[in-house]
Amino acid sequence: MYNGIPYTPVTGSFDLTGKNAIVVGGAGGIGEATARMYASKGANIVIADCKDTCDEVAGKIVADYGVKAIGVKTDVTSQESVDNLVAKTVEAFGEVNILAAMPGFVDLYRATDIEIANVEKHIAINAVGVFRVCQAVANQMIKQEKGGKIVCITSQADFIAINKHVGYTMSKAALVGMIKVCALEWAEYGININGVAPTVVNTYMGERAWQGKVKTDMIEKIPVHRFAETDEIAAAVLFLSCNESNMITGEDLVVDGGFTIY
Ligand SMILES: NC(=O)c1ccc[n+]([C@@H]2O[C@H](COP(=O)([O-])OP(=O)(O)OC[C@H]3O[C@@H](n4cnc5c(N)ncnc54)[C@H](O)[C@@H]3O)[C@@H](O)[C@H]2O)c1
Repeated sequence: MYNGIPYTPVTGSFDLTGKNAIVVGGAGGIGEATARMYASKGANIVIADCKDTCDEVAGKIVADYGVKAIGVKTDVTSQESVDNLVAKTVEAFGEVNILAAMPGFVDLYRATDIEIANVEKHIAINAVGVFRVCQAVANQMIKQEKGGKIVCITSQADFIAINKHVGYTMSKAALVGMIKVCALEWAEYGININGVAPTVVNTYMGERAWQGKVKTDMIEKIPVHRFAETDEIAAAVLFLSCNESNMITGEDLVVDGGFTIY
């Protein structure tokens, strides 16, 4: 019944026609860019986010790409909310084939000063929350017996120490470990799970964390001398969400303009 991840001839088209994709954190930033890129390749979309604008973002995707899309307000720190997301997706589209799990939280303090509750909040959203949604979707994929693709957004902070990022880095490093174990266990069900590790990206989160001198210093250190745009991250996520990457699992793909080569 289950036999790993089979070879499928690939064309380089990155086609997702007829696939159903959940994008968690999809109501803005990298998530919305990913949802749009998936839709441009023919996937139906579920926008899941704790924001109130999920339906609005989904509506614009329907108008712009002519695919089906729904919004499901979701909080990844709640099991009930995540179970509801999977149920609503199956109710609307019959099955789920792709999960982009990219909710995120960051708050910057030095390691001597950060409150433990703040560290726990990073872990609750960025690590446990992402695992909760991966687990729920993987179990649905296993039930469907058709495999699937899961991509999480990790960070350059997995590879390099960044000042005042202790809570964030602890949560993203946990995510990398989770991705590896799940890749090992879920390959036999035909499920690939990978991470994409960006440098600073021009989003609400990126602008919040990098302002003034820290911003100009950081840009100076990145060999390409700029931050990333959301579509550049979405393109890497798309690659890891289609047949073109069937042979890649448990990877954490760096998209950092060369920042971590030092
Ligand atoms: N922007 C950067 O510089 C950068 C760099 C590396 C990694 N990342 C990661 O990329 C991902 C996307 O971030 P972004 O830059 O697009 O920021 P963003 O703030 O635009 O998007 C994050 C989204 O996650 C949602 N979210 C937060 N908590 C949630 C919860 N409990 N349940 C459901 N949704 C929740 C937010 O509402 C928001 O829409 C995050 O995982 C972030 O850690 C961002």
